[in-house]
Amino acid sequence: MPIARYTRVAAVLHWLVAALIVVNVTLALTADSFPESWGRPVVDLHKSIGLTVLGLVLLRLLWRLSHPPPRLPASHGRLERTGAHAAHIVLYGLMFLLPISGWLHDSAFKDAAAHPLRLFWIVPWFRIGAIERLDPATKERLHTQFFALHAWSAYALYGLVALHILGALKHQFIDREPEIQRMRLGSP
Ligand code: HEM
Repeated sequence: MPIARYTRVAAVLHWLVAALIVVNVTLALTADSFPESWGRPVVDLHKSIGLTVLGLVLLRLLWRLSHPPPRLPASHGRLERTGAHAAHIVLYGLMFLLPISGWLHDSAFKDAAAHPLRLFWIVPWFRIGAIERLDPATKERLHTQFFALHAWSAYALYGLVALHILGALKHQFIDREPEIQRMRLGSP
């Protein structure tokens, strides 16, 4: 029997978003170890990749709503089905929360006017006006709070991605089901 698979578009978006998130987390966590003159370009690249992820996740969600995913194998128990479904919903939530909290944090940056936001140094991009227009003291406070939200949502994402990978590996290697093939990029 042929393996029930995600559509090619869903698989491309899945692996592209996953790769960009890995790159972005790596950039953020290593930003301080680059030579000082690289600090700003590294953070600018992080913002550009993050905003790209936000657009791609929105596309992913719209695609998923219009193209239902393949059914789970009948061997999956009720608990596993509910757990996988809940994990996927929280993963989508975090994939939105991370770039949005980063964008909010950046919009509350006190020197934002001196550092215009540009996607990949080319496309002028906007900050969130309602935050930019606040008084400096409120912005300073929000800058710190949005950063905490950004960092904590990243920790939550690490935990959930670990569960997601462990779940996929269990089905692939312990239950011996073609799990990873469901999200394959190539032809059957
Ligand atoms: C895929 C989306 C994103 C991921 C996975 C991500 C992840 C992270 C992580 C893990 C950190 C380090 C937190 C810590 O120090 O504990 C960080 C820092 C930061 N993020 Fe993001 N982020 C994303 C999107 C964005 C966006 C869209 C913006 C702004 C437009 C942004 C702005 C920042 C800034 C300014 C910092 C501080 C960097 C520094 O000064 O070293 N992030 N991000």
